[in-house]
Amino acid sequence: MTIQIIKTTPFDDQKPGTSGLRKSVKQFKKPDYLQNFVQAIFNTLENVPGSTLILGGDGRYFNREAIQIILRMAAATGFGRVIVGQGGILSTPAASNLIRQYQALGGIILSASHNAGGPEGDFGIKFNGANGGPAPESMTEAMFAASKQLHEYRIVPIQPIPVDKLGVYQLAGMQVEVIDSVSAYQTLMESIFDFDKLAAMLSSESFKMRFDAMHAVTGPYAHQILEQRLGAPEGTVIHGLPLADFGGGHPDPNQAHAKELMSLLYARQSTMDFGAASDGDGDRNMILGKRFFVTPSDSLAILAANARLIPGYRNGIAGIARSMPTSQAPDRVAAKLGIPCFETPTGWKFFGNLLDVGKITLCGEESFGTGSDHVREKDGLWAVLFWLNLLAEKQDSVENIVRSHWAEYGRNYYSRHDYESIDLKDANALVDALQAQLPTLAGKPFGSGLTVSAADNFTYTDPVDGSVSKNQGIRILFTNGSRIIFRLSGTGTQGATLRVYLEKYEADTAKHNQDVQEALADLLNIAQQVARITEFTGREAADVIT
Ligand code: G6P
Ligand code: ZN
Repeated sequence: MTIQIIKTTPFDDQKPGTSGLRKSVKQFKKPDYLQNFVQAIFNTLENVPGSTLILGGDGRYFNREAIQIILRMAAATGFGRVIVGQGGILSTPAASNLIRQYQALGGIILSASHNAGGPEGDFGIKFNGANGGPAPESMTEAMFAASKQLHEYRIVPIQPIPVDKLGVYQLAGMQVEVIDSVSAYQTLMESIFDFDKLAAMLSSESFKMRFDAMHAVTGPYAHQILEQRLGAPEGTVIHGLPLADFGGGHPDPNQAHAKELMSLLYARQSTMDFGAASDGDGDRNMILGKRFFVTPSDSLAILAANARLIPGYRNGIAGIARSMPTSQAPDRVAAKLGIPCFETPTGWKFFGNLLDVGKITLCGEESFGTGSDHVREKDGLWAVLFWLNLLAEKQDSVENIVRSHWAEYGRNYYSRHDYESIDLKDANALVDALQAQLPTLAGKPFGSGLTVSAADNFTYTDPVDGSVSKNQGIRILFTNGSRIIFRLSGTGTQGATLRVYLEKYEADTAKHNQDVQEALADLLNIAQQVARITEFTGREAADVIT
């Protein structure tokens, strides 16, 4: 076997962010850019010889080329076999499942998640470890360090693998197995949910739903599971064909980007009972009822409160975790169930240890991510099936389920305001100024009964391995439980994105019908005032509100 050793020059910007290395396609297409980072990943791994690697992506532009390059590099590095999803397609949760099922050393997932695709869009690459979860910070730091010292990479000569055709192929002594992208994942879902009940509901005349795959990776999964297996009428899945540029859309399942789905569910005469969407790589979810939006934070709380209704969680859940900016609604459920609730930094990787040692069963984030210990990633379709299973059990509407949850636990009004593509310098100056004010904020009254109880920059100590993560977001906490949180996004590729998270708790059922933005207007004012958002960024209002 000839292994080519190619001389290269290190890049200085290959630092993985919240979720892998994410850059513009243009950047990834620079000579050796992808190769260098793949080699940096491989250089940080131990026990490669003979081991198994899982490989797939969300089908975005450059996915196919990247798969062939990575296969050749994996062969040169000494992997025993690589399992590839057909057509190079694997959703992030399906890849996580395969890593666990095949006891692989890890997996490479090609995705920039919800970022736009196409030649002008973004590309990304992330590595998940043997537990199926995103590489922990210690590992991504090691990859970054390796990338800066890289002077050569190893690759075998071109020999295209027909990834569209199921089968087993040989590549320079390494086995490449092209598998059906959906079937193992479907089996996993069948082991968790009541497929008989689901099938009865989805195939009945009286239930109508739409699942928006946003021309991204969940298309094949949703067609197969919802329509073929569960008998939902054809047309239930919309935008189900994965396209390299996501049909020009933005594969982010939120009210702003899933426009068609929103209009179907919000039409005055809407006949829909349920709507859902997932993102580029299939790990996010948005849940809608008829003219009703479920916040991801509420969704986690409601799934946790009702978990025993689902076969896979019949024996109850061990604990819940939520990322710090996610609303505190799940905390109330945990308190009532008498189980722990952990508050982690933003990023799914922080749930991995808690899941591995069994401290938690369910976890979620405000950024449209929900999941459980069935894999080590958030899982869009799993969340959809969970909701559908709940609807089938309760024989009630999404809105009623949420409203009765609020009646029992109180409502956490919640919204996130994103100021996108702001100048990096301005964003850092804003955060520095905010940080400098923190010591003066505690005890400060702001009118409308709002007094600051504490203000800090969130530090997390992992209860399993003791690792400490600092500077995870500025929190202004109020005595009545309200919160304002400021964070710079770790997934953007253009300038900086400032995220402002607003949360207000309301126990009184009579006050559960307010408009969300009106309910949070006081907090938004305070946020703008304290962080001097307009002064630093020139922006009067957020670009995207979810
Ligand atoms: C990705 C990660 C999530 C994270 C989200 C938001 O989707 O997998 O765990 O919550 O990005 O990240 P950001 O840094 O942009 O707020
Ligand atoms: Zn994603």
